[in-house]
Amino acid sequence: MAPEFFESGNKPWSQQSMSAYRPTPLLVLAAALVAPAVFAADAKPDIENGRVTFAQQCGICHSVSKEPGGPIMGPSMVGVVGRKAASVDDFPMYTPALKAYGVKWSVKTLDEFLENPMEKVPGTMMPMSLPDPKTRADVIGYLATLKAGK
Ligand code: HEC
Repeated sequence: MAPEFFESGNKPWSQQSMSAYRPTPLLVLAAALVAPAVFAADAKPDIENGRVTFAQQCGICHSVSKEPGGPIMGPSMVGVVGRKAASVDDFPMYTPALKAYGVKWSVKTLDEFLENPMEKVPGTMMPMSLPDPKTRADVIGYLATLKAGK
């Protein structure tokens, strides 16, 4: 433990003047104790891993920008989190199966779909599964950064 933590004389904390009070080691200690618990309970997606995975497995069919001229085999992923399934107007090839699916894409519905699209939505033409939960969460975390307007 940092030595300053103990070098505050013999007075109790409450009687020490502010100038003698050294908050930093305490805060560092508190952060070190709290942080692992927070991350374990609410694991943060690794956006960079999601970006790389998407580029390798999804980018050949799905655009991630609003600029024309990108891949057109699948609908654009811009703004996908928050929009209705099969709702990109300028993507003409949606299957009746996906149109009928009826969900709004969220972290949860994307997680269910991407685990195995062809099993979840029989008849869809979206072929690529992400069976690993961590990889799936990372890719969805990345998709959530693709806001409309960018
Ligand atoms: C071979 C091309 C292809 C690849 C690779 C591909 N997709 Fe798709 N994706 C599609 C097509 C086609 C659709 C439309 C499916 C339909 O209408 O049934 C689609 C639909 C989707 C949808 C629903 C979009 C909407 O507007 O409702 C999501 C989300 C999606 N794909 C994510 C991904 C992710 C993530 C990956 C990589 C793990 C991926 N796709 C890889 C072709 C592809």
